[in-house]
Amino acid sequence: MQRVAKEAYVPGIGDAIDLRSDTVTRPTPAMRRAMADAEVGDDVFGEDPTINLLQERVADVLGKEAALFVASGTMANQLSVRTHTQPGDEVLIHEGGHVLNYEGGAAAALAGVQLRALRGIHGVLAPDDVRRAVWPSQDHFARSRLVVLENTHNRAGGTIWPLEAVTAVATAAHEAGLAVHLDGARLWNAHVATGVPLADYARSVDSVSVCFSKGLGAPVGSMMAGTRDFISEARSHRKKYGGGMRQVGILGAACLYALDHHILRLADDHATATLLAERLREVDGLEIPHPVQSNIVIVEVSGLGATAAEAVPALAAAGVLAVVADATRIRFVTHMDVSEEQVAHAADAAVLVLSALGGGRSA
Ligand SMILES: Cc1ncc(COP(=O)(O)O)c(C=O)c1O
Repeated sequence: MQRVAKEAYVPGIGDAIDLRSDTVTRPTPAMRRAMADAEVGDDVFGEDPTINLLQERVADVLGKEAALFVASGTMANQLSVRTHTQPGDEVLIHEGGHVLNYEGGAAAALAGVQLRALRGIHGVLAPDDVRRAVWPSQDHFARSRLVVLENTHNRAGGTIWPLEAVTAVATAAHEAGLAVHLDGARLWNAHVATGVPLADYARSVDSVSVCFSKGLGAPVGSMMAGTRDFISEARSHRKKYGGGMRQVGILGAACLYALDHHILRLADDHATATLLAERLREVDGLEIPHPVQSNIVIVEVSGLGATAAEAVPALAAAGVLAVVADATRIRFVTHMDVSEEQVAHAADAAVLVLSALGGGRSA
């Protein structure tokens, strides 16, 4: 957990409870041992046995021909966008999508594409959203080329795309001649919450990214998967982006360890997120705008007469760390480095702090 000033501690807990993101999870001692023992080679020469094994295993669980290890989820998404498109193409994406909002404008800067934001509900698009957005092929228009989906959907509170929605949107995109990329940074969470096999979620899309650095304890590591040709082209873009790494099996070993030991326990994080949301609903005026289906809880604080910029420091002063999602929304994320007991403590403190912000009203 993140250490904060002593006077800000919640009595009886000691450390602040860090619910800012599942990216704060740290390698366990066993994961560190696996990293120390990793067999390594030069991965730019394709000679790192640990990375080669990881790439085979991830391609296999995602039901794709090939997979590629990359430095981050952003790199996996951006290499996918770059590989599917040409400069001037248009990419369709939900208005809250990570690729649109949180990747530093990289799609424009590095792939030279424009992104078009679609509405959707709780992060999920409908086939007609895509059909209506595709431009006719005429000189006036950008070439509509790619649809990006996100499952689970971060900004929509970790909501899960139903499998039928993935298939229907991918089919509509393909019929219109567009490719489909799935940002599956938290696809593991969707799989654990629903029992739908990862390969089923990935079947109808052309490429998929997954992350080991979110909620699984790995310090670094994301993957992208697709056809052998797609991955081979992405590999050459990875080199151009400066992402060719050498004895990187040390990081790959952490990802293999996470794959074998930390996926199923994500169910615990979903249970603690549900527990937190249930407690927060006690606060009069507070709203949880999206269903809580995995490990993310987005909270709307405008009904308390407060802004997110006021709520987050007030929570931090009581030892609960959250982040500002936008002007009136804050985000909590549960993960393997916080126990059920800690989340229960955080919920107690958050109910008190947020009720006080709302003028002491509590349902
Ligand atoms: C849905 C989603 N996609 C991609 C990323 C990017 O991952 P990274 O921070 O490893 O670049 C994140 C990060 O939190 C994310 O939530």
